[in-house]
Amino acid sequence: MEYGKGLMQVSASAPGKLVLFGDHAVVHGYPGIVTAVDRRYQVRAKHIDAAALQVRTSAGRLHEVPFAALDESQPPDIAYVVAAVKQLNARKPLKRGLQLVTGGPARSLGLGSSSAITVATLAVASRLHDVDLSPDELYSMARAAVLDVQGMGSGLDVAAAVYGGTCFLERAGEIPEALSVERLPLIIGYSGSKVGTVNLVKQVAGLRSRHPDLIEAILGAMGRISIRARSCLEEGRWRDLGALTDINQGLLEALGVGTGQLARLVYAARSARAWGAKLSGAGGGDCIFAWADDSVRADVVAGLEAVGGEVADIACNVPGVRVNDETWR
Ligand code: MEV
Repeated sequence: MEYGKGLMQVSASAPGKLVLFGDHAVVHGYPGIVTAVDRRYQVRAKHIDAAALQVRTSAGRLHEVPFAALDESQPPDIAYVVAAVKQLNARKPLKRGLQLVTGGPARSLGLGSSSAITVATLAVASRLHDVDLSPDELYSMARAAVLDVQGMGSGLDVAAAVYGGTCFLERAGEIPEALSVERLPLIIGYSGSKVGTVNLVKQVAGLRSRHPDLIEAILGAMGRISIRARSCLEEGRWRDLGALTDINQGLLEALGVGTGQLARLVYAARSARAWGAKLSGAGGGDCIFAWADDSVRADVVAGLEAVGGEVADIACNVPGVRVNDETWR
């Protein structure tokens, strides 16, 4: 495929994410771990004859944003796409109009659609405009775009979308490290509801500013859990990992981001002899995951379903962003 001048169309896909450890703590400078999940989001791009960005969303809506209006506030369904294009425009001013078509699974299940769409947008738009980005540059620009929309965030979700696999982020703002993980024996259970990440991140930040000593201690403990969990993951010590997972869940409850339904799912998994279970991501809804040996897998699935959970059969540790089905770089 020829890129740049004369190129007709570029498409990219980027994976969603499951935060394994350090949810919320990463926003405040502590380590976290994320794995890329096989729920991919696509963006297709081509040039158009207008000084504008046209976006057709997966819901079928068509938006047109003149280049002169890129800095204005945008409808929520295209905010991440526009923020990504703004990053590219700042790097090399756009000379030709751009049409983007976004797509992905009908339901996100809270598994990271915003970051995946941001990364896929930057990947296609930079190829079409002949801007050569290394994976680390793509990561930094996508993280900046997400921060532009959300105001707060660690970049952990963006790491999964760019690099794929399972990533360890030592500190927000740094480049994540790829973990060498062979398999992840986990089960994902969806709670049935979703809550905006930004509100929960702000809620935790508010709690931290009202009770800095208490909350800093909790976030610091979560960071230490991520460091220990890293070696458990790399060495396949699932029982130890399960214990760390349960401690992390207790700390997330202490931050106030748990819900009754998430707790029911976590306890159902533990009752069915999972090694450990916790919510994943911002909380307030979305998913839990449980580490489970093959011998108890069916019982854990049945336990989650019995309390109203939707068990999603989703592969983890999958490849990051791909352009025209080629791995990035
Ligand atoms: C959201 O998937 C994970 C949080 O830690 C937010 C972030 O890292 O930006 C809650």
